[in-house]
Amino acid sequence: MKILVINGPNLNMLGIREPEIYGDGTLEDLIEYVVDYCKPRDIEVAFFQTNHEGEIIDTIQGALEKFDGIIINPAAYTHTSIAIADAIKAVNLPAVEVHLSDITAREEFRKNSYTAPVCIATVAGKGFNSYLDAVEILVAWINGA
Ligand code: DQA
Repeated sequence: MKILVINGPNLNMLGIREPEIYGDGTLEDLIEYVVDYCKPRDIEVAFFQTNHEGEIIDTIQGALEKFDGIIINPAAYTHTSIAIADAIKAVNLPAVEVHLSDITAREEFRKNSYTAPVCIATVAGKGFNSYLDAVEILVAWINGA
């Protein structure tokens, strides 16, 4: 079981960026948290973060035949990127959208997600635990549960 976790723009700023919304853990802390969860469950997990939309698309395309599924926090591109949604659709890998914050309870413009309709589920508002829930959902889906 191999999962790719993609984090989009400004998530490299975790720990510094609006801690009242995103918490004070860093991206490295998040990676460690997810790895610690996956290791004993025999789930191989790889991470990629970029601030660039095209690099997210390249990475989604590159996941084909290398990973069983994708966890993606497209960050602000959630609300703008038809291209990322198209890439997820194109590779036809199961994907779970995650958000640290509850995007349904914030500004109006965060309520729309272009990526949610092409993902099997969305988990939001649970901080780092959004990623763990996403792992569970993805693994269950891949195992055909
Ligand atoms: C986010 C929510 C987005 O609206 C925002 O642009 C982000 C982070 C989250 O994880 O809560 O950058 O995806």
